[in-house]
Amino acid sequence: MQTLTTNAATSQFIRSCPRPLGLVPTMGALHEGHLALVRRARDESAFVAVSIFVNPAQFGANEDLATYPRDMERDLALLEAEGVDLVYAPTPEEVYPRGFDTWVEPGALAERLEGASRPGHFRGVATVVTKLLNVIAPDRAYFGEKDGQQLAVIRQLVWDLNLGVGIVAVPTVRDSDGLALSSRNAYLTTEQRAAAPVVYRALSEARSLWLNAETDAESLRLAVRHILEAEPMLDEIEYVSVADAVSLVELDQVGGSAMISTAVRLGRTRLIDNVMVGNVPQEPDSAF
Ligand code: PAF
Repeated sequence: MQTLTTNAATSQFIRSCPRPLGLVPTMGALHEGHLALVRRARDESAFVAVSIFVNPAQFGANEDLATYPRDMERDLALLEAEGVDLVYAPTPEEVYPRGFDTWVEPGALAERLEGASRPGHFRGVATVVTKLLNVIAPDRAYFGEKDGQQLAVIRQLVWDLNLGVGIVAVPTVRDSDGLALSSRNAYLTTEQRAAAPVVYRALSEARSLWLNAETDAESLRLAVRHILEAEPMLDEIEYVSVADAVSLVELDQVGGSAMISTAVRLGRTRLIDNVMVGNVPQEPDSAF
């Protein structure tokens, strides 16, 4: 496994690599969710690249950039064990050198939900993902369904800017009690960790209601809220959404497909999760 830190060396290195090339973009602090992306990429690619970069541009001023978990040594050992070919781990100066002045600004899709709670977040994600795709030029890039809106924004980005890469969505990996794996789960205290599965329980209840023919979106939102509000450890419910799975516009009725999602705060930790219902768009090359 090769580890490179500069754009020039990385672009040069991948020029002679076997294809297809699968890229898994990460911010490190790897867990089984990331490893599921890597394994899927390994299954489908002749060459697997993983990027590790805690992207300052996607953190708000009051967010956890400084404390975001970092453990490069452990990450590299995990990736080596998965048979990864290349790790691209640039410094912030390599990605945003002095004089950097061009941003990728996603549209309305990025203003809702996470975008409303975290202004500028998806601009940072779209910009860094565009740069990673340009440096590594993968045939496919792998993203987790856990960040459902990020996935939608990236699909739209690839389509809008003709980036010519297949976007592959990989199902959320959960602990046995349902909590979606996230690097930020490391912030939870023991008591908060015990309460956290309420998020998936609430979303699963909405999905069960939908499976039992409840199509009124507000009833589904209320069902999620009802379960979340019964958990005293939750400090805040930022949003509960039942939105069209592609446009992320809030629905009145769930006809075709929908993303049911929520963001909550448990102490200083912000947790997001979602479940999809209906015919979810997931073919890898839909972005072309
Ligand atoms: O999902 C993440 O870890 C990040 O948002 C990504 C896609 C690596 C961009 O920094």
